[in-house]
Amino acid sequence: MHKEIESGGWTAERNAAEVVSSGLEDVYIEWTRLTHVDGDRGELTYSGYAVEDILGKGALAEEVMYLFLHGELPSAGELRRFRGYIEEGYEIPDQVVATIGLAPRSASVVALQMQGMSALSAFSPGGQRYDDPDSAARLIGQMVAITSVSLRHVMGKKSRLPLPSDSVSRSFLGAVFDVEPEEKKVDALNAALILYMDHEVPASTTAGLVAVSTLADLYSGVVAALAALKGPMHGGAVEEVIKQFRDIGDPSRVDEWFAENVLNKKKKLMGFGHRVYKTYDPRAKAFKALASSLDLSGGSAALFDVAKALEEVGIYALGQKGIYPNADYYSGLVYMGIGFPPSNDAYTGLFAMSRVTGWIAHFLEYVEEQHRLIRPRAVYVGPDRREFPPLFERRRVVAELPQLRSRMPSSQAGILEVKGGGWGRLRI
Ligand code: ACO
Repeated sequence: MHKEIESGGWTAERNAAEVVSSGLEDVYIEWTRLTHVDGDRGELTYSGYAVEDILGKGALAEEVMYLFLHGELPSAGELRRFRGYIEEGYEIPDQVVATIGLAPRSASVVALQMQGMSALSAFSPGGQRYDDPDSAARLIGQMVAITSVSLRHVMGKKSRLPLPSDSVSRSFLGAVFDVEPEEKKVDALNAALILYMDHEVPASTTAGLVAVSTLADLYSGVVAALAALKGPMHGGAVEEVIKQFRDIGDPSRVDEWFAENVLNKKKKLMGFGHRVYKTYDPRAKAFKALASSLDLSGGSAALFDVAKALEEVGIYALGQKGIYPNADYYSGLVYMGIGFPPSNDAYTGLFAMSRVTGWIAHFLEYVEEQHRLIRPRAVYVGPDRREFPPLFERRRVVAELPQLRSRMPSSQAGILEVKGGGWGRLRI
């Protein structure tokens, strides 16, 4: 439905509200072979493989990274070579490390990742190619290194780059912490890397796709995606969920807290709800099982008890509206159980380190196979065409001048110049 508006020879078309899809809900922006999300059944598949099956078969995160960048799973030899490219990426330039070191210790890890990726963009004029999975693998390695340097920076430790090992998870944990990582923590991080690796086109991937659709370099696409991930409605929710559990403090306070905050104050329950899933997010189930496998103790065990009690109340109250736990509900507890600090957006940064593979895989797929500039429209609803009035003729200025005059010392009153019968131009 279109409405024609005539004004001073200028014609505008104002479309009916149904033309605008609020929040781009149910708008499809690309074809993909990477990830399929069935929001009604709560199913997630990567190139046809169910995420639970991938985890159950004990796959390494690098195998799934390869799947995303090459379209099929690797043989043992292909995996070895692929890991070699990732490991080349660990050696980020000293200047990039130094850039991160300039930030305050209170900085957000995600902001530091953006800083690091921007610096890499600056150090690689021309950027990376869209048709080269090997250099995409190097970029993943660079993200692992940047995340390790960023985490160590906010933890007050001297920077240290990951070293080659038998898995990305082991290399990363070895770089962040100064001790040999426990096996179950290596496994938990490996599973977390897989669970967060791709998820079709959420806000972050879409933001990155918009950037690379202009043929900006891959690093710039990652920076755009990181910026969109940072907010509490997307990846930033991981942090908010932990704050929420801490705020509640004890399972006995869950009912009271929920009634006060979610029912009365209409605050969103963080870690619940999803644009696509209208049932339990399969990643939330997997993260919950991972948190159990880590045998949390002390403060994190208490938060896990709060989480489980709050989940029951949340599903009871919101489940009928299709609002269930999402991936971010239990993932922070897994990161906490591995030993990462619950501050400085560290958990959102870890999420980003997983998702960088999905971002890049979408960028390559889009630019190589279906490239077109992403440039949507906005329906204009502002004033009709009108004549531009010079500053001294504007009513608003006229209204403000006497007030300004009264606030000015009398010695400066001449600064207000009267012109053309109206109040004049302000020359200060
Ligand atoms: N708690 C309470 N009510 C909720 C929640 C929630 N977590 N999520 C949605 N709702 C309600 C809304 O209030 C709204 O109710 P109304 O129709 O009565 O007004 C209705 O459900 C629809 O909500 P929208 O915000 O329009 O849903 P949308 O699809 O735009 O938002 C989102 C999805 C942003 C994830 C939302 O559920 C939310 O803010 N959740 C909390 C933040 C969060 O956990 N984000 C992580 C997402 S997963 C990820 O990024 C990996």
